[in-house]
Amino acid sequence: MNVSIEAATAKDAEAIANIHFESLREGYAGKLPQEYLDMPVTDWRINAWKKWIARSKVRTLVAKEDDQNVGFCTLQPFNENPPNKETAEIVALFVQPDKWRHGVGVILCKGIESEAKAAGFSKLALWVLESNENARNFYKAQGYQLQTGDRIFLETANEPLLEVMYRKSLVQ
Ligand SMILES: CC(C)(COP(=O)(O)OP(=O)(O)OC[C@H]1O[C@@H](n2cnc3c(N)ncnc32)[C@H](O)[C@@H]1OP(=O)(O)O)[C@@H](O)C(=O)NCCC(=O)NCCS
Repeated sequence: MNVSIEAATAKDAEAIANIHFESLREGYAGKLPQEYLDMPVTDWRINAWKKWIARSKVRTLVAKEDDQNVGFCTLQPFNENPPNKETAEIVALFVQPDKWRHGVGVILCKGIESEAKAAGFSKLALWVLESNENARNFYKAQGYQLQTGDRIFLETANEPLLEVMYRKSLVQ
């Protein structure tokens, strides 16, 4: 695969919104409520991505293969209590399902780590659904370490869906 990464612009918003939901539907089937996965990609959602991309503290990278978007990764300062200016959070990493296990996730992850370092962050954190074994294995393979504790991502009729946290130091 000939994949390059670049900073997202407003022109990428529609592709990002589509990849987000295609990847969610495939990766979270049976893990998130079906009505959540069935949500359509609306203009509202595309415009929300445009606004998100334009925010100065948020960085989104897109991965492109032959000018086609195949994945994206979004970083923002980590909202931690007490405030911690050293840590940034990966808030989204999604690859188009037909490109999984082709190395796109690694390219995006390394790219966002470079962005974080360039912006002065020395640590990364992220939350991932506890049942999302694929993503957890991916992050583990990239050197992210599971932290103790969890948080509720979504209350459901049965039991709450939990997220767990991973962290990685960017300083060797
Ligand atoms: C998680 C995700 C981003 C990984 O992207 P990807 O492009 O498939 O990952 P890569 O091909 O770069 O994988 C790199 C390495 O990570 C590990 N890895 C990736 N997916 C894995 C899986 N399903 N199971 C076990 N290990 C996995 C492997 O070590 C892999 O190397 P290998 O293929 O040579 O064995 C992708 O599967 C995805 O978009 N999933 C749905 C969305 C999601 O869950 N995002 C995370 C939200 S927090």
